This record gives sequence, structure tokens and C-alpha cells, in this order.
Amino acid sequence: MTQENQTSPDIRQNGANTKTPLEELVENLHKEFSIMQEEGYYGNTEAITDLMNEYVANNDDYKDYCFSCPYKYTRNLIAKSDVFELMVICWKKGQPSPIHNHEEQRCWMGCVKGRLQETYYVFQDTKDTHGTGLLEESHCHPIENGSVGYITDEIAFHKIESLTEDSTSIHLYSRPITECNIYCPMTGAITRRKLGYFTQYKSKESINVHTSFDYVPTTNSYISTNTTAISTTQ
Ligand SMILES: [Fe+2]
Repeated sequence: MTQENQTSPDIRQNGANTKTPLEELVENLHKEFSIMQEEGYYGNTEAITDLMNEYVANNDDYKDYCFSCPYKYTRNLIAKSDVFELMVICWKKGQPSPIHNHEEQRCWMGCVKGRLQETYYVFQDTKDTHGTGLLEESHCHPIENGSVGYITDEIAFHKIESLTEDSTSIHLYSRPITECNIYCPMTGAITRRKLGYFTQYKSKESINVHTSFDYVPTTNSYISTNTTAISTTQ
């Protein structure tokens, strides 16, 4: 399988002997994701978890990709192929994600700064992610600095938020997710959100692509106001 390599130009051009830890992670991810698994997807889940754990525990060169926004958390693209995308997400306190699914893809989340909280949701009627109607919270736990979380639609829908003033996480999706479901826990309404990036490969050029928000956070719910805009967050 030929992968479309959209890795950051400086990662592509660096010599073999001068690779940074992040460049090594991207290179190793390309290798792992080139191998088809018996389950029918690319990349061994455990091996990829190990790569993420190793990077998250020991390195900070991700900081070159960190761009924050005072209004909402930001998705900053590091590398992308047709089977995975790697990004830095910068969170400030009070900037939670909406409750969302992962389009039947795998998601790894490594906390590299601060402390995050992950809340799981399932449908009230089925107690899992197959159903309709209202959601209920099924689990809530922190993702500590230096640790890697993992989620799929089989586990739950989830919401992520920062427990500290600023948090940063490295997110890996396989395959890349271009849009996803957003769930309103109060009404059961599901809306589709197209996903974008706040920055790509350290470039802020994409900031002007979209700055409006398609939900309004209230005390306990999200009110959908626009289901078609491209979001720079997930
Ligand atoms: Fe997520």
C-alpha cells in the first residue's frame, strides 16, 4: 500500500542522523502503520501504544507545534498519511471538547503537559454506543501527565477537558478522522461536524479558514447552531 506522506516539511527534509524524538516517532508510526493486521486495519495497536508511551514520557519537542487560542482548544497537525494523523491539542481550562465519537477509528491520547479528564458516555437505553436517545455518563478518569489514553467507539463516546490551567496532549488517529458525530447529552441530538486544524505543520495559515463555533457550551449541554461548518477542534 502506498501511503500519502503529508509529514511536516522539516521532518521530511531532516537527515537520518539528526532526527529529533518527534521525527523518530513519526518515522516509526509510518513503519507500524504500513503493516496490515489480521483484524483488517493498519498498525498493531499494542506496538503503537508503546511508541506513544515512549515519546510522551520522555520528550518535549512537540512544543514547536503548540499554538493556543483564548476561545477554544486547538488541533495542530504534525503528520498525516492516508492511515493515520498525529497532532498536538492545546487546552485551556474551560475549553472542553463536545461529546463525540471516533468514526470507528482508533484514538490514542498522550498527555504531555498539565492534566486532562476524560468522561465516557453511552446511550441510556443500551448502556453502550449502539442506540439512540439520551446519553449518560458511564465513567470519568484523569489522563495524567506522561500517560497515554486509548479509545474507540466500542469503548464509549467521550469528552476531554483540562483540569489544569493549560494542558497539552498528543493525539493519534487511525485512520484520520475528517468528521464525526457530536452528541447533546440533554436532548440526544446528534450533529455532524467536519474537522479541521488550527495550524498545519506549524503554519498558522489555516487559522483564517474557520473561527466560528458550531456549539455553545452551557451549564450541562451543548446547543447545536451549525452542522456544516468546518471545525478546527474536535
Ligand atoms: Fe476524542
